[in-house]
Amino acid sequence: MKRIGTLILVAVGMLSAGWALAEQDSRMKVVVDEFGKLADGRKVDRYTIKNSSGASIQLTNLGAIIVSLKVPDRTGKLDDVVLGFDEPAPYLTDSPYFGAVVGRYANRIDEGRFSLNGREYALATNNDQNHLHGGNLGFDKLLWQGQVVDTGRGAGVRFSTVSADGDEGYPGELFVAVTYVFTDDNALEINYQSSAVDDTVVNLSQHSYFNLAGQGDGSILDHTLQINADFYTPVDRTLIPTGEILSVKKTPFDFTQPKPIGRDIKAKHEQLSFGGGYDHNWVLRRSEFEGQMHLAAVLTDPGSGRKMEVLTDQPGLQFYSGNFLDGSVTGKEGVAYAYRGALALETQHYPDSPNQPHFPRTTLRGGESFTSKTIYRFSVAN
Ligand code: BGC
Repeated sequence: MKRIGTLILVAVGMLSAGWALAEQDSRMKVVVDEFGKLADGRKVDRYTIKNSSGASIQLTNLGAIIVSLKVPDRTGKLDDVVLGFDEPAPYLTDSPYFGAVVGRYANRIDEGRFSLNGREYALATNNDQNHLHGGNLGFDKLLWQGQVVDTGRGAGVRFSTVSADGDEGYPGELFVAVTYVFTDDNALEINYQSSAVDDTVVNLSQHSYFNLAGQGDGSILDHTLQINADFYTPVDRTLIPTGEILSVKKTPFDFTQPKPIGRDIKAKHEQLSFGGGYDHNWVLRRSEFEGQMHLAAVLTDPGSGRKMEVLTDQPGLQFYSGNFLDGSVTGKEGVAYAYRGALALETQHYPDSPNQPHFPRTTLRGGESFTSKTIYRFSVAN
């Protein structure tokens, strides 16, 4: 039965992908090579996509991770704007989710417990008493199946995997596919797709750490951020939402107008002390149509002129200001990643939604599928 379930899930996933899957083809600018081996000998693939402007992205089937992303500054100079490693092994041992797809439930679940259909589930607790980003062996640590795709808008890679019933404590088998497409105008499109055999919870996100000056180049405190959100969800000292939805007005959490990240980050505010800086979910302004894409955030680096717009159909945005980076992790090109040397803008559902009935639902019913889309669009500010 289980096996049949898996086959059906995979088949449904393939059919509903909605994109022409193509075998690798010499016209596509996707180069597949070996990224390296894990400690247990498993081989890990790397996909390099270069668009017609010369910008490029590297992806790996380990964790469906974005390894590098090279985009131009105002003079046309390409720099890698995401943190990561030059080889696969440290992603399993030293990585605070650099570039990874996080799930089954991105962000925190209070004490790893929730009820579904009257039954209580206990998830792995890997962040003190809480569950974070899918547990000990989350989606970020799995070897996914990778397949090159060509969408007409650009080349990409579709990663898929099946999470078994009971993995990290989650109920029900789940099929997941994440498709990245890198367009000629430097937009990275991410399509998430998931289908369940039995009722479960799902919250998928991308955990890239961005520094628009270039990875390892100073802190992000001078970056300017705008978030299209009038409310945020405050947290307790373990970073679990209290359940309140509070206005950002007259608080350090007001990014409705573009503001340097460093301007208020040291303000005396209980929420900033709980997060050690910004580590919160913003309630995004939504279009009146459910599932429609909206501009969630705009990040700019005045030094390089690089600008990144974040568009999504998701209700929340976790802005994490890299507060736990402390120079102890050495990444690509031997660079030690400094305190607040990068930030994450994670489009997702609100944290702990399974325990907060008034938050948008994250339940995925058996036989149903979930799709969502996020775009990180790169350009140069005027
Ligand atoms: C969380 C942080 C956490 C980081 C790395 C972010 O999504 O909000 O609290 O430290 O991921 O694990």
